[in-house]
Amino acid sequence: MANAPHPQKILEVGTGNGVLLCELAKQGYDPTNLLGIDYSAGSITLSQKIAQHREVGQISFEVLNFLTQDPSCLPGMQQAIGSWDLLLDKGTYDAIALAEKDTTGVAPVDLYPGRVVRLLRPGGLFLITCKPFLSKFIPSTLLISNSL
Ligand SMILES: C[S@@+](CC[C@H](N)C(=O)[O-])C[C@H]1O[C@@H](n2cnc3c(N)ncnc32)[C@H](O)[C@@H]1O
Repeated sequence: MANAPHPQKILEVGTGNGVLLCELAKQGYDPTNLLGIDYSAGSITLSQKIAQHREVGQISFEVLNFLTQDPSCLPGMQQAIGSWDLLLDKGTYDAIALAEKDTTGVAPVDLYPGRVVRLLRPGGLFLITCKPFLSKFIPSTLLISNSL
């Protein structure tokens, strides 16, 4: 991130305990421009508590399924589609890639690239940390979307 243009709006998918965004806020990123989403309500409650404890409580943390829900359904986030300067994923792709197909035969991971493209602004950055054995699949997965 140090070598990239300074992003304004940052979305972390699968924020877990929210510590990554807390660290960014501590390093000078405007906490009001940071949103962490997770489909686990427990994760979001924990993230909010940690952020308050670390005095970066202005970060937004919301319960949301990255694959099926848009942040635009959240209060004050009506412009959230195609608007993010940076999308962060630390470990969430791993979880999604290992999830089984649903009853219609759709694998959750197949939805992933389209969701990334839908939420990033044109020219926005996507920064992912995942297990090495999965990383070789990511470029081709995202190329399928034909937009990155
Ligand atoms: C391996 S943990 C990583 C958490 C955090 N990013 C970290 O590095 O500590 C994966 C997280 O992704 C969340 N997650 C998995 N699938 C998700 C989805 N479709 N939408 C939102 N969150 C999801 C899980 O609840 C979990 O908190």
